[in-house]
Amino acid sequence: MSLLEKIDRDRLPAHIAIIMDGNGRWAKSRGLGRGEGHREGISAIKRAVEAASKASVRYLTLYAFSTENWNRPTDEVKGLMDLMVYAISKETPFLKKNGVSIRSIGDKNRLPEYARTALEECIRETAGGVRVTLVLALSYSSKWELAAAAKKIANDAVKGYLQVEDINEELLGNYLTTCGIPDPDLLIRTGGEQRISNFLLWQCAYAEFYFTDIFWPDFGEEALYKAILNYQGRERRYGKTSEQLEFEQ
Ligand code: FPP
Repeated sequence: MSLLEKIDRDRLPAHIAIIMDGNGRWAKSRGLGRGEGHREGISAIKRAVEAASKASVRYLTLYAFSTENWNRPTDEVKGLMDLMVYAISKETPFLKKNGVSIRSIGDKNRLPEYARTALEECIRETAGGVRVTLVLALSYSSKWELAAAAKKIANDAVKGYLQVEDINEELLGNYLTTCGIPDPDLLIRTGGEQRISNFLLWQCAYAEFYFTDIFWPDFGEEALYKAILNYQGRERRYGKTSEQLEFEQ
C-alpha cells in the first residue's frame, strides 16, 4: 500500500501551510550558490502542489518571502523576485491545467512593480481553478498583518462603519489578508529548525506542527504524505478532554 493510499480521505487537513526552509544549506552542502538552492526550491514547490492535489488538500500556503527577508543581501532579494516572476509566468499553464488557483497574502505594495504585475496576472489567469488554492505568502509577516488589520479597524471605527463593541475574533479575522481562507490544520517546517518565524500566528492557533530535517529542495510527494499521515495520528482536542471527544462521536 502506498503512502498516498494510506491517507484517510475522511480526515484530511483542509489547509496545509509550509515554511520552506533549507534552500541555502542545501546549496552550500553541494558547493553551490544560494540561488541554486532557491531554483531547486521551485521544483519542490511543483512537487508539493502535485502531491497536495493528489491527496485532495484544498489549500496549500507557502511562506515564500517574509517581511524580514527584505533584509537579505540585495542580490539575493532581486534573485528571489526574478525567480518568483519566472516561475509563476512559466507555470501558469501547469497551474490552470491542474485546477490550481493562486492567491497571495502579504504586503503586495512592497513588491517591485514587475513582480506585482506578474503576480496579479497569474492570480487573474488561474482564478477558475477549484481543485487547490495555492496561497503565496510574499512580503508577509504576522506582526505586519495584525498591525495592518488594527489600523484598518481603527480607521473604519473612526469613520463610523463599525462600533468598538463589534470588534471580536470573527471581525478581526475578516480584516486579515487570509480572510476567507480556513485556518491551517497542519503547519510543516522543513530544514530542521523548530520555530514559527512570524508566520500565520493568529491562524495557527490550533494548527498541528510538523518539523522535518529535510531541506526544502529535497522535499517531495512522499514527504508530504508522511506529514499528512503523522497529522492523522494526532488527537485534536481544541481545549476539550479526550473523553468529551469520544462522547461527541
Ligand atoms: C528558505 O531557505 C527559503 C526562502 C527564503 C525562499 C523560498 C522561495 C522560493 C523557493 C522561491 C519563491 C517562488 C515562488 C514561485 C513563490 P533559506 O534561504 O532560508 O535556507 P537556509 O536556512 O538554509 O539558509
